[in-house]
Amino acid sequence: MAGRDEHATSSAEDGARKARNIMMATRNARVDSPASVRSAEVERDFEFTGADFARIRELIHRRAGISLSDHKRDMAYSRLARRLRACGIDTFKQYLDRLETNEDNAEWEAFVNALTTNLTAFFRESHHFPILAEFARHRQQPLSVWCSAASTGEEPYSIAMTLVEALGEHAARHCTVFASDIDSQVLAKAEAGVYSLEQVKALPVERLKRFFLKGTGSHAGLVKVRPELRAMVNFGRINLTDARAMT
Ligand SMILES: C[S@@+](CC[C@H](N)C(=O)[O-])C[C@H]1O[C@@H](n2cnc3c(N)ncnc32)[C@H](O)[C@@H]1O
Repeated sequence: MAGRDEHATSSAEDGARKARNIMMATRNARVDSPASVRSAEVERDFEFTGADFARIRELIHRRAGISLSDHKRDMAYSRLARRLRACGIDTFKQYLDRLETNEDNAEWEAFVNALTTNLTAFFRESHHFPILAEFARHRQQPLSVWCSAASTGEEPYSIAMTLVEALGEHAARHCTVFASDIDSQVLAKAEAGVYSLEQVKALPVERLKRFFLKGTGSHAGLVKVRPELRAMVNFGRINLTDARAMT
């Protein structure tokens, strides 16, 4: 019986908390924008105040130089709510206190990973690559290229492909591409070098054949960067705002 009463009490408290959070989210929504009202009315498991969001903005800016604009509020909530659940923490305040009281807390990595934006594509902003090819052809020594916000690897592999196409396999093998990012999760994907067919669909067939292996069986629908191209790229986690990493 006692167990059932406790359960009833906690369900009632849960309901009240959720209702409070919906009210809070609705109160904080801009009334002139139906879309933002709709998204703010989404039920939230945790209370998320303007002060919490302001603290998150301050912390991620201090840690990684990332500026979160006002419209990233829902994004910050949904990504960090997962971290609260994973850590078994009940409030954003407790979560943020935990980060702030320990600069070396391992949770910082997950906090940063959660808030980065990793949009990328092969040969994104394609006009840069002919310039690199031209530079590589006129350079007398082997090139070392640093791709400093490499995300899931499309950019460093595009750089490596450009070097191979410009210099030929043999000369390009003496070049290196160093791919870094602050986000450890995207770096792991970059290192794996595995992409969906959707992600490579804009590449011409010759490039696909030359630089990728097509998955079969359980890997159908995927491609993998060929080992020769993969060998040109090294990976490392670097925070560009960390002065020590720059020396
Ligand atoms: C939008 S992606 C760009 C990816 C790629 N450079 C491109 O243009 O296709 C931005 C990347 O910058 C990384 N980033 C953000 N702040 C960083 C920092 N302080 N140090 C290193 N990387 C950072 C993010 O993790 C993300 O993967």
